[in-house]
Amino acid sequence: MISFELNGKTTEVSAAPDTPLLWVVRDHLKLKGSKFGCGMGLCGACSMLVDGESTRTCVLPLAAIQGRKVTTIEGIGNPDMLSTLQSAWVEASVAQCGYCQSGQLVSATALLSKNSNPSDNDIDEAMSGNICRCGTYPNIKKAIKQAAKNLRKDNGQLQIVAYFDPNSIQQEA
Ligand code: FES
Ligand code: FES
Repeated sequence: MISFELNGKTTEVSAAPDTPLLWVVRDHLKLKGSKFGCGMGLCGACSMLVDGESTRTCVLPLAAIQGRKVTTIEGIGNPDMLSTLQSAWVEASVAQCGYCQSGQLVSATALLSKNSNPSDNDIDEAMSGNICRCGTYPNIKKAIKQAAKNLRKDNGQLQIVAYFDPNSIQQEA
């Protein structure tokens, strides 16, 4: 049994220790916001925050997260309570097909949690591991800059909402 914090709640999962975290979250815990893209740690579609760092979970074994804090896109906000970043994302109409977007938002959240005034270079560096086949990069940058401006007005507090209760989902063995 592996125990970790998922979106603010203690969660226990029985699965093979080498099961990738992405599989655990999508298939065992039924949170489908994080996507499978390359399965090789190269595209960023599967990104989640692990102890605050944007992490490729298609190549992260379950055993590696024992006792750690995991936040998925479901823990960052929801349609009724958008994070500062998500509001800016909507204003900038960033999403196109949407497939990469949860990973993009996770990486941008990690960036803004450490840097509320990122330069173009800071953004390029932080977001370089997240591929968008629809080419939404200019609007992603615009949204991150707008969110940063809003955060500075709000004393830099990046709102992260941990609303999902994983204990409400029946876990599979
Ligand atoms: S699916 Fe994990 S990095 Fe592409
Ligand atoms: S919005 Fe389509 S892949 Fe990024």
